[in-house]
Amino acid sequence: MTSTNAVVTRETNRRRTFAIISHPDSGKTTLTEKLLLFGGQIEVAGAVRGRKTQRGATSDWMEIERQRGISVSSTVLSFEYGGCLLNLLDTPGHHDFSEDTFRTLVAADSAIMVIDLAKGVESQTKKLFRVCALRKIPILTFVNKVDRPGKQPLEILAEIEAELGVKCSPQNWPLGYGADFRGIVDLNTGIAHLFEERRGDRRLQGTSIPLDEVDETLVSAEALAQAREEIELLGESNQLDREEFLAATATPVFFGSALTNHGVEAFLRSFIQIAPAPGPREADVGLVPVDREDFGGFVFKIQANLDPKHRDCIAFVRVCAGRFARDMEVMHARTGKKIRLRRVHRVFGSERETVDEAFPGDIVGLVNPGEFRLGDTLCTGDPLHYAPLPAFAPEKFAAIRCTSSTRRKQFAKGMEQLLGEGAIQTFNDPNAATKEPILAAVGELQFDVVRYRLQSEYDVETALTWLPFVTARWVSGPGPLEDLRLPYASRLVFANTGHPAVLFSSDWDLKYAQETNKAYRFDATRAGDLSTNTNSTAARPL
Ligand code: G4P
Repeated sequence: MTSTNAVVTRETNRRRTFAIISHPDSGKTTLTEKLLLFGGQIEVAGAVRGRKTQRGATSDWMEIERQRGISVSSTVLSFEYGGCLLNLLDTPGHHDFSEDTFRTLVAADSAIMVIDLAKGVESQTKKLFRVCALRKIPILTFVNKVDRPGKQPLEILAEIEAELGVKCSPQNWPLGYGADFRGIVDLNTGIAHLFEERRGDRRLQGTSIPLDEVDETLVSAEALAQAREEIELLGESNQLDREEFLAATATPVFFGSALTNHGVEAFLRSFIQIAPAPGPREADVGLVPVDREDFGGFVFKIQANLDPKHRDCIAFVRVCAGRFARDMEVMHARTGKKIRLRRVHRVFGSERETVDEAFPGDIVGLVNPGEFRLGDTLCTGDPLHYAPLPAFAPEKFAAIRCTSSTRRKQFAKGMEQLLGEGAIQTFNDPNAATKEPILAAVGELQFDVVRYRLQSEYDVETALTWLPFVTARWVSGPGPLEDLRLPYASRLVFANTGHPAVLFSSDWDLKYAQETNKAYRFDATRAGDLSTNTNSTAARPL
């Protein structure tokens, strides 16, 4: 092994690249903030939440975030903890932005699923969990808000198992919950960690002692008896099967409160032990190891005008193999062009710093003068194409029209930019009377973002006409497309990449089409559609 390989291996092994998935309001921002606090990246609680509310002041197109009180943009937050370098891929919280979130998950090696103890498994969590499970992204579960009245801890485990079909392996157990939340018991060591707290004029000491030694002077008799009984019932379920965890069929579960900070640092300590370091990645040449002699990475996110001061476009690259160095000449696998990477940044929130080197698991931001597309591979040495990014079946459709006849060129330019970023998908209907593109996305808010950005960045006013479709399927088959027998209300269209798809106005129509065209495939997702990287044979549809 060369010394470069040894450095790459050492650096890779200490990296943990992950995302947090949750339903809005379950405490993702609060937990993120606490993780950054332990990582020394922020000094006071409130910094992230503060930024969340101030964002409108620092970024203009993100004004939409401020208006709606949601987070549209996403960045990477890196911090050191316990000898590890953690890269947190911050994903937008709103359910309408799930395509962006889905793609970000492709760049993560693990995910933290935050669940609100009172609300249990909610719709957005379910959706994101499914994406992780299908892509075999290991998931650690943090049951949050234990300081508030909620469900019984055993009930929440049963709900997670029933709703998500994943085996729960509790790693700690709350000693009391709601107003009685007094501490957590580490199920692997049997040590109870009691929090320091003030109850009225009584001050309860913080301490760590074996559960057997905890008595009623420390925890209420009722909470203690309940915790002891439940822990007995749990038996050996804290024994996490590593293989099942890596296959996303089992999840370690931690209880805590992000707001009061209880259980968060213990969770972080376990996280760096349990979450996997970056591993080999699928490509057209087979699995590519992280310690490959040469560099390899792929573009998983493109965002323009992230910072109004610069007005540029950043391509976010996930480093997957080898060492990345600034000024390095890489091959752009899709075009075969050699590119020298000079302007390389690490983007932390709204701040940027120049990156000199990076290792597998790291995310670097390249200033993108329109050169890169989603899913593009960059590499040195022998060429390779990482598995294409998956495209997701949209659920909302609308024709978009530029309402100012003098701004058509700018409209076309803006649409091209937004398509390149993967902000939205478009389809064209060759038989339609007008040539207006059909916008398609998972959620309605994405349409607002497209219109807002066209208006604020390209000075183009647009109008939408909603179309009555509920889903789209990529169609492929042995015969010509004209032979397809489709329900009256459906429409055969083509993506900007040329791939044919059918838009359906009901699930019943979709079923009918599947049954009457048995020789054809109707796929909900199509790997690679976004990247136009059709050379790759390593497509892994979701
Ligand atoms: P999100 O990013 O998942 O959308 O959730 P966020 O962290 O913004 O938290 C949503 C609300 O839940 C916030 O309250 C937050 O303070 C609260 N919260 C988060 N974690 C905990 C916890 O462990 N215990 C309790 N009791 N509350 C928690 P808010 O009233 O909406 O906002 P704020 O007034 O606190 O800023």
